[in-house]
Amino acid sequence: VTRAVWQSAESESPDADVMAFLAGEDVVMDRALFVHDIRATRAHVGGLMRIGVLNANDARALEAGLDALADEHAKGTFVLDARFEDGHSAIEAYLTAKLGDAGKRVHTGRSRNDQVLAALRSFARASLETLTATTLAIARALLARVDAIGSAPMPGYTHLQRAVPSTVGYWLAGLAESFVDDAELARATWSWLDASPLGTAAGYGVNLPLDRDGVARDLGLSRLVLNGVAAQNARGKAELAALNALGAALLDLRRFAWDLSLFTTEEFAFVRLPDALTTGSSLMPNKRNPDVVELMRAAYPRCAGAQVEIASVLSLPSGYHRDLQATKAPFVDAMTKGLAALALGPLVVRGVTINAEKMRAAINADMYATDRAVEAAAAGTPFREAYRAIKSDVGNASGRTPEESLAARVSPGAHAAPRTEELRARLDALASVLATNGN
Ligand code: ARG
Repeated sequence: VTRAVWQSAESESPDADVMAFLAGEDVVMDRALFVHDIRATRAHVGGLMRIGVLNANDARALEAGLDALADEHAKGTFVLDARFEDGHSAIEAYLTAKLGDAGKRVHTGRSRNDQVLAALRSFARASLETLTATTLAIARALLARVDAIGSAPMPGYTHLQRAVPSTVGYWLAGLAESFVDDAELARATWSWLDASPLGTAAGYGVNLPLDRDGVARDLGLSRLVLNGVAAQNARGKAELAALNALGAALLDLRRFAWDLSLFTTEEFAFVRLPDALTTGSSLMPNKRNPDVVELMRAAYPRCAGAQVEIASVLSLPSGYHRDLQATKAPFVDAMTKGLAALALGPLVVRGVTINAEKMRAAINADMYATDRAVEAAAAGTPFREAYRAIKSDVGNASGRTPEESLAARVSPGAHAAPRTEELRARLDALASVLATNGN
């Protein structure tokens, strides 16, 4: 175990049990933040050099040391573990071991309090970029299926009861639109977090003319969190916003997964999942189970639980409190697991096979009743009268086909006027934003 960064004498050593309690799982969670912490430290070094607190030689050496650490961490030759109190201390310990005095200068003008905020924000924003890209990829995969097989009729359900004729395309385009909403929310949240907390130190600034704006620019952030108290008070709140965006996407993933698990039952048999996306039973030789989509459906609870856990920690007065460390594990864990579930989305969308005959056969004559009532109303019969007349005769829809019903569904957004190009425009706009800045 290395000495804690704040320790100057052996007598200050906390008991090993106490040290383990303080670090907890935190140092392991810091593995997810480590590259972000290193990146922010590199920016901080540049800032210190620009104000003359670090000379150019030390700054160059520190930058090279940080690059080497990032490299060793990626390769697994540097392991962040309980030898260190946290990732922040590990960076300083590594640089000091490698560079001596230069390493001991790296923490000038900052605190672990703003260091952890900078690392968390960078992790959150990188995660939100992945979330935006993944939800767009799911939407795109869905729209590709719409183009290929979208016109196949299927029942539209309300209350899981057959309602009116619809199409496979309408179902899948509906999910695509939801995922585009999710991508926009992820992007908006990314923008909302576009501010640098680095240089607020322990929460009250420092007696140095830190180049906070230059450091922010190096980190790709467009403005500062000005006030150090605001920076500390945003801890946890920023995480909640990021998890809210993740949760929105996971709710939609759950809907889709639910639809698939339902439609793959023999009772429906509307869709089939390929063997690569199902598992066998250990006991029942006849089974193929949709475990993959079931675990996708189960991805949301981790996110919801993390939001509750984080919000529970935040009952605190202003400023930094070590309690805040307890927001890290639920955040990192929920974000990592949630993104992993979403990452399989495009594969599932592409893998589903559609049984168009089964779907079509599930559309019965009763389902034209709404068309007939609305037609009569459009021709002048008061709607309620038309409704009653058709209700006593719902099965009598001779000669009607799903295609005719769908061709007449001209209300904006409905089957005959889906205006899918508007959805594609939103998708493309977001994709080009991702391609041009920040990926
Ligand atoms: N691991 C700590 C956290 O996540 C880092 C900050 C420690 N700061 C302190 N003043 N003890 O909050």
